[in-house]
Amino acid sequence: MKSIPLHTVPTTLGETPEMMQAIVIRKEREGEPMKSMVVEEVPVPELGPNEVLVLVMAAGVNFNGVWAGQGKPVSVFRMHKEPYHIAGSDASGIVWKVGKEVRRWKVGDEVVIHCNQSCGQCPECNGYDPMACSEQKIWGYETSWGSFAQFTKVQAQQLVHKPTQLGWEEAASYGLTYFTAYRMLVGRAQVKPGDNVLVWGAAGGLGIFALQICKILGANAIAVVSSPDKYDLVKSLGATGVINRKEFAFGFKPNETPAETKKRMDETKRLGAEIRKLTDGRDPDVVFEHVGQETFPASVFLCKRFGKIVICGATSGFDLSFDVRYLWMRQKEILGSHFANAYQAERANELVVSGKIKPVLDQVFDFAETAHAHQLMMENKHKGKLGIRIQAPNP
Ligand SMILES: NC(=O)c1ccc[n+]([C@@H]2O[C@H](COP(=O)([O-])OP(=O)(O)OC[C@H]3O[C@@H](n4cnc5c(N)ncnc54)[C@H](OP(=O)(O)O)[C@@H]3O)[C@@H](O)[C@H]2O)c1
Repeated sequence: MKSIPLHTVPTTLGETPEMMQAIVIRKEREGEPMKSMVVEEVPVPELGPNEVLVLVMAAGVNFNGVWAGQGKPVSVFRMHKEPYHIAGSDASGIVWKVGKEVRRWKVGDEVVIHCNQSCGQCPECNGYDPMACSEQKIWGYETSWGSFAQFTKVQAQQLVHKPTQLGWEEAASYGLTYFTAYRMLVGRAQVKPGDNVLVWGAAGGLGIFALQICKILGANAIAVVSSPDKYDLVKSLGATGVINRKEFAFGFKPNETPAETKKRMDETKRLGAEIRKLTDGRDPDVVFEHVGQETFPASVFLCKRFGKIVICGATSGFDLSFDVRYLWMRQKEILGSHFANAYQAERANELVVSGKIKPVLDQVFDFAETAHAHQLMMENKHKGKLGIRIQAPNP
């Protein structure tokens, strides 16, 4: 069989075509998503002994697809040796073929894919945390063969069961951001009942799950968003208070004058007072960070004494500048966090299977519109998550 059409599930389960359609990024066209992400026909990848080929029913859009297309801050072609890059770190699908060592999964299983890959053989993988493996990589970003294709190649340990109550697009939409938020709040910051948690970007991919996790943990989530049309969404997900960041000029800009720094600090203090109105006068025990340069100085300042700032990203810039006196004199902690290990992904997935955590799928696009969906994300014109329908026959 040479190829299969889009939006179909072949009746010959497990029979693998030679070629597949994929959204391909090439070094020579790195740039904005509309330029860099192009539909091409490429060979279906070969499997190693511990790998699984999955028929991709739907894929989820993440910011790392924007970074991959742009080649910034680092080109993906410095991370792997493949001649082209297939992005995509979220998918739902059907196990189509398994490597000869795979025992936990069989052809026909319906699955969701988590995006952490590691060697599986080192002491870190086997007794500590696969995120500490020296070969740890994010599938579909630091590796090729991601989810924006008819088939994807993954390690067997990357699979979790698809929640049966969810459609394919919803099932493809939560893994990367939800499992990341789970590790940040449950694993790294160890949020406790009654904690106040300041959640930047609360209506975005990470934020929608941070709010739901806080609610389950009995913590109060203070949601920060940039427009009132996001208030209803974040409240419905459990936010106990909402702040519109556009009403406060706390954002850090490189090369500020002393007068600008003073203005920013005054506005940050005003923001702190607004937060305390929502928390019975208390500063946040935990700040959920992923915005980076613009918000980080405020995050360090606003966090309470002995509090924690947990950070996994830097949408507005990774070169952070902040007044460190607020960190050491008030004995705060900064915790780096990155995706999740397979155990955390499995535990977090159980909460979706049982219906306690729900995906927030804002829009679904057709396979051919994958670049457009990434463009919307780059321009911050979305809420919640964006999905891509690939082999699923109907929306
Ligand atoms: N390390 C990891 O494992 C990991 C995993 C997932 C994501 N990330 C990173 O985390 C970041 C966020 O991911 P995401 O999926 O949540 O993205 P997203 O869906 O775009 O949401 C981010 C939210 O941040 C807010 N935001 C954007 N620019 C801002 C600014 N200058 N100041 C304050 N808020 C701003 C926006 O909300 P408002 O405009 O409403 O405020 C936006 O909705 C990305 O950089 C991503 O690469 C890292």
